[in-house]
Amino acid sequence: MTDPVSPSTPEATSEPPLRPRRHSAGWRWLNERLDLSAFYQKYGRKAFPVHSTFFLGEMALFAFVILVLTGIYLGFIYVPSTAEITVQGESVPEAYASVRLIETIPVANLLRNTHHWAAHLMVAAVLLHLLRIFFTGTYRKPREMNWVIGLVLLGLTLVAGFVGYALPYDAYAVTATGIGFAIARSIPWAGPIASELFFGGAFPTLGSLARLYTIHIFIVPSLLAIVIGAHLLIVVKQKHTQPGYARALAEPGKVLGVSLWPYQALLAGELLLLMFGALFLLSAVLPPHPLTAFGPPGPATPEVKPDWYLMWIFGFLKIVPSQASFSLFGATIGPTFLGGVLFPALFFGLLTLTPWVDRTNRRVLRRFEYLEPVRQSPLRLASGMAVLVFIGTLFVAAYYDTFGLSLAQIWTIVIVVPLLAGVATWMVATRTTQAEWFDPRESLVPVPPQPVGLTPEPVPAPAPLPSPVMEPSLDRSLLTQPGLDGP
Ligand code: HEM
Repeated sequence: MTDPVSPSTPEATSEPPLRPRRHSAGWRWLNERLDLSAFYQKYGRKAFPVHSTFFLGEMALFAFVILVLTGIYLGFIYVPSTAEITVQGESVPEAYASVRLIETIPVANLLRNTHHWAAHLMVAAVLLHLLRIFFTGTYRKPREMNWVIGLVLLGLTLVAGFVGYALPYDAYAVTATGIGFAIARSIPWAGPIASELFFGGAFPTLGSLARLYTIHIFIVPSLLAIVIGAHLLIVVKQKHTQPGYARALAEPGKVLGVSLWPYQALLAGELLLLMFGALFLLSAVLPPHPLTAFGPPGPATPEVKPDWYLMWIFGFLKIVPSQASFSLFGATIGPTFLGGVLFPALFFGLLTLTPWVDRTNRRVLRRFEYLEPVRQSPLRLASGMAVLVFIGTLFVAAYYDTFGLSLAQIWTIVIVVPLLAGVATWMVATRTTQAEWFDPRESLVPVPPQPVGLTPEPVPAPAPLPSPVMEPSLDRSLLTQPGLDGP
């Protein structure tokens, strides 16, 4: 295969035609009945751009698949009941006993650990995918809708992770879920309904675990499946954005890349297997805490901290002073509501508005079809960095008392450090942005280095650019056919 980003030459475009493909008897049998070739013509040749960051969305998707598969297995053994049973002379909740049982069966334990790490991987992949979309400006027209849908997916992923906390029903699970219950109950007016819906009115109470289990195994995964489906349908309809190099190679309005079948499908299969392998390895060497570490729930409340992906909310909760409470139309707005609901909701709300705040998105006729180099928009880069640093300071806030900081000091850090990071990034980006401007000629015609201290030799005029083609010097069989991804 030739270099995928090198320019096409007249010779390269006149390669011999592809040999007609031979199909197996099984495929022919199915094709006669289901007209598979029509299906392949319509979807199988969809172009997938070749760029590593385009796998992040797929990683999120596959982590979800792994969670569902391992979750189904765990569901065969897990019992969502808080009834006390006696195991080896010890009285423990049935849910706790069933997870202890899982821990003693090697395969079940491996799959439980894999389920645990897949949840972390899914959140990480979703966040990295979001960062790629944000920093390259691909949330802009026409993809605003998928940005908002993506944020719903992020919210659902975080909820799925949180609801899973309760299930092992050890002292850690009950304490952490209790914090979630307090947050739900703190919502003015809607608090009682929320706590009734999600926790059965109180926590822990007889019906709590059954509700949380149904939400965890059925409601949230079904919503995720439906919303992921909508997200991907929109990607298919609107087509992928493309990495910068494709600007010089693809025809306007067409996407350059490998076809869904069989090349992207093979890459995806490989990625899924790699992820399984990595998760098995992680599960074997770094298991989550054993249930005996905290033991069954008892009168003592252990000191717990949430996982990294919920730590920012914990940080908010910690820095709102306990006296921050007032009445509004008869309802009490307290610190738990401010830190656990209002601040995170405002944060999500601001993220949602991103495509409409970005002034480059206001040129009505324009469609943004290429990834923008990150430094090309210093303001976006600076605000993104400020937000990332802000989240980082909320991690510090979650431990501020352990670090010996006062409330005033941590507030100063949370406000000032992100601002400074944003300004510093903006200054660096505005000074270096020129180097990043994408010019297809630069990638095609390398400029020879100038000898230092000598009179520069006149640089020969660059050769005229070849007209853009859909099938440049790439291996033709790897590319979608022209016209497929056209408007
Ligand atoms: C469960 C979570 C998610 C899954 C499974 C998922 C999956 C995908 C996949 C497979 C693609 C196509 C390949 C790619 O561009 O990476 C995609 C594109 C996209 N996603 Fe997501 N995504 C998720 C969450 C999000 C989030 C949190 C956002 C942003 C808030 C988002 C915004 C977008 C946008 C705007 C596109 C089109 C980008 C383009 O064409 O360049 N997605 N998603």
